[in-house]
Amino acid sequence: HPVEPVIVAIDGPSGTGKSSTSRAVAAKLGLSYLDTGAMYRAITWWMLGNGVDVADPDAVADQAGKAAIVSGTDPAAPTITVDGMDVSGPIRTQQVTAAVSAVSAVPEVRQRMVDLQRAAAVAAAGGIVVEGRDIGTTVLPDATVKIFLTASAEARAARRSGELKGAVTVAATQADLVRRDAADSGRKTSPLAKAADAVEVDTTQLTLEQVIECVVTLVEEKRAAL
Ligand code: DC
Repeated sequence: HPVEPVIVAIDGPSGTGKSSTSRAVAAKLGLSYLDTGAMYRAITWWMLGNGVDVADPDAVADQAGKAAIVSGTDPAAPTITVDGMDVSGPIRTQQVTAAVSAVSAVPEVRQRMVDLQRAAAVAAAGGIVVEGRDIGTTVLPDATVKIFLTASAEARAARRSGELKGAVTVAATQADLVRRDAADSGRKTSPLAKAADAVEVDTTQLTLEQVIECVVTLVEEKRAAL
């Protein structure tokens, strides 16, 4: 019988090393890579640029189908475009980060993104690593391997403010992370949650290399048992 392509779902809150881990695991195993957070950021960027009141769920729902979002799935060079424009830089601004939880809580937005994410997984003939918040629970419940990354709030804030190169204090970063986690975990439609069959990896005391190694081993063990 034909070998099913391996699908790796990696979920967890921000600052757990999800993106770095997911990209590296995909590169090591020769899989495609999809950053679903970048997709929610891209639609948020479009909403902000088009004068949509992101605090108004009806307004967001109404405009949810307008932006054409395309994700490149090469782990060596992830890309994301909106209406053909590369928005890799603009989606990382504080303005987008502050608005993304509200936009991603709107069911019409999620439905569109989930459809695109499932299509990307189907298109990745050689298998794919998909990272997000609801991949193992909602987007790809039949994923081959499900990982749920965690870390203490302190560790996550320290990592994030390192990425932001001191532009914001660790305390402010931690407050923002905690606020976003609460919004992402508390929303009605597919909240941030660990799937019952996901393996939880606490990265607080681990280096990035150790986390990557751990996930690669989990995937290889699962593959060998298929
Ligand atoms: O991974 P990230 O921080 O770039 O994600 C940005 C936001 O997008 C995050 O606050 C919650 C939302 N998100 C989501 O709701 N579902 C996903 N699968 C991925 C991200």
